Amino acid sequence: MSNTLIIGAGGQIGTELTLALRSQSEKGQIIAADIRDNSPDLIKDGPYIQLDILKRDEVRRYIIDNQIETVYLLAALLSATAEKNPDFAWKLNMEGLFTILDLAKEGYVKKIFWPSSIAVFGPSTPADNTPQHTIMEPSTVYGISKLAGERWCEYYYNKFGVDVRSIRYPGLISYKSPPGGGTTDYAVDIFYQAKSCGKYTCFLSKNTALPMMFMDDAIRATIQLMNAPADRIRIRSAYNLGGISFTPEEIARSIQRQLPKFEITYQPDFRQAIADSWPNSIEDNYAVNDWDWKLEYDLERITHEMLKNIT
Ligand code: NAD
Ligand code: SER
Repeated sequence: MSNTLIIGAGGQIGTELTLALRSQSEKGQIIAADIRDNSPDLIKDGPYIQLDILKRDEVRRYIIDNQIETVYLLAALLSATAEKNPDFAWKLNMEGLFTILDLAKEGYVKKIFWPSSIAVFGPSTPADNTPQHTIMEPSTVYGISKLAGERWCEYYYNKFGVDVRSIRYPGLISYKSPPGGGTTDYAVDIFYQAKSCGKYTCFLSKNTALPMMFMDDAIRATIQLMNAPADRIRIRSAYNLGGISFTPEEIARSIQRQLPKFEITYQPDFRQAIADSWPNSIEDNYAVNDWDWKLEYDLERITHEMLKNIT
């Protein structure tokens, strides 16, 4: 029986990915790992280890000793946090990836998932329906690290046959675990503020369109990509995934349809420049053709789910 390790399992994506993979696996097979001392309550039902991805020797020993064959490497600094600490962001976002790619090159790890982001695109990228292959000149340290990571993933696949798979996630919206310092976090915070005090001050301007996705769709896409036959995976850098595209004004209107008294005001900060450098919307025809990707949640459905589940 092969084991799976999720590194960064305590984060926004990791908690829900751990839950989803455990629901489809034998007991004990999905091991959650994070630098945090303790497992988040939501994933306490299964194995948890404290692991720092930057401790290369410890990570190698754990993976080899426990016959880990699949690794989901989620530990990273996100866009807004990375701008405040660029040196450390580069270190964290790159060194961990090499540790896992090398373990796969040596034959210990058989399959890797490592997430990329819409942040790989930059101000010179066509902003509407951004295609899979296009100009990529990211202007944030986060985007630079994700683009470099993509190139290394493709290199390890081409040179060493490493089975590494990746998605350029849009901004992810969820209610089970909070977001970890991204520019798209406003699209989660807004629901919490709408429920708790009926108003929200947005750190992006009202017409800033960004690609977004509900977490259930993102988790389904991740598992679908990882389960796809290797010969259908044409992209070994990272797949575009479109999600839906909306502005702060549009999400506010969607909330107002359910909470008519909700009010939004705008006070853009440093994150506006990050958002302005990213696409408005993304084309994901490669994911559709290669592994039958299909989105399920539109904005109205996301709003309904978020307002229903946030207490
Ligand atoms: P998050 O910040 O919520 O979670 C990251 C987790 O990694 C945290 O639990 C943190 O404790 C852990 N971690 C940090 N340093 C670590 C270390 N040294 N060793 C082990 N664990 C460590 O992030 P997330 O939103 O869940 O994102 C996961 C991945 O997906 C990241 O690579 C991110 O770039 C990517 N991504 C996220 C989004 C999004 O909207 N959430 C969008 C695009 C890409
Ligand atoms: N949601 C992420 C961020 O804003 C995009 O990768 O950083």
